[in-house]
Amino acid sequence: MTQPQLLIDTDPGVDDALAILMAHAHADVAALTVAAGNVGLDHTVRNACRLVDVVKSATPVFPGCATPLVRMPEEDAAFVHGQDGFGDVGYPEPVTKPRDEHAALALLRLTRERPGELTLVALGPLTNLALAVRLDPTLPERVKRLVIMGGAVTGQGNTGRVPAEFNIGFDPEAAQVVFEAFPMFDLVDWEATVRHAFDDSLLDAWLAAGDARAELFGKIFQVARAFNARHERRGFIAADALAMAVALDPAMITRAQTRHVAIELDGRLTRGATVVDWQRRLGHAPNARIVLDVDSGRFGAMIARALGA
Ligand code: BDR
Ligand code: CA
Repeated sequence: MTQPQLLIDTDPGVDDALAILMAHAHADVAALTVAAGNVGLDHTVRNACRLVDVVKSATPVFPGCATPLVRMPEEDAAFVHGQDGFGDVGYPEPVTKPRDEHAALALLRLTRERPGELTLVALGPLTNLALAVRLDPTLPERVKRLVIMGGAVTGQGNTGRVPAEFNIGFDPEAAQVVFEAFPMFDLVDWEATVRHAFDDSLLDAWLAAGDARAELFGKIFQVARAFNARHERRGFIAADALAMAVALDPAMITRAQTRHVAIELDGRLTRGATVVDWQRRLGHAPNARIVLDVDSGRFGAMIARALGA
């Protein structure tokens, strides 16, 4: 069987890191296009380069947008991921260097070179994708599949605006551009992530049995792990890893609903919310397959392999 061919837009970030390790263990990765999100762009790009070093690949890293499209963010996620996005553990200057081409242009070029071949996996704010779509509205026609980690489909978000999830809440305008432009995508939301937490003991076993990848992940996850414990987030939660699992093996989806999803752009309390027309009241064509459940065994096996366990 041929491996999936992936194009990953990301803001590493600890759970992005695990997802990127998974991608390199199970797929061919055409590129990492990087945006600001969890932390600033300098850090997310450097972290992406560090990951490419660790997996010993030649995956190109393309720096993209340093800010959201319209409004400056009210918060980042340094309080979860560490000031540098990788748990502030310190690591040597990466050997991998970022390319000169902007991420949005790289997304357009790579999909022109390989039309219909690449699955696009979006693990961060959708700024780079939105910019690419605005530059060339035919982008969606050239993508095999789009998988987005984002949203909170019944309003149980994880940001200061209660119903908003981080990736969508960081750049709601970009999310709306992307949600309108792609006729259909897989949406892996925060609530599904929480439902698919693993026992801490399982994570510890994976980390203990693993190699350099496990060593890196074990270190950089410590700050986020402590944050989760303080905030009653039970077990090992890895949002971007779940989206990556769905991208790698859509057959692992055991429950999904296809609906129209739009983004709330205003709202003092609700900006960034993903508004799902669950009862199909508005008559819009559905644009999202909302992933509700996956086979946790298969998901766990993918993580284990990515950590060398
Ligand atoms: C998402 O926000 C980020 O903090 C994570 O990397 C993930 O992509 C979860 O809401
Ligand atoms: Ca992310």
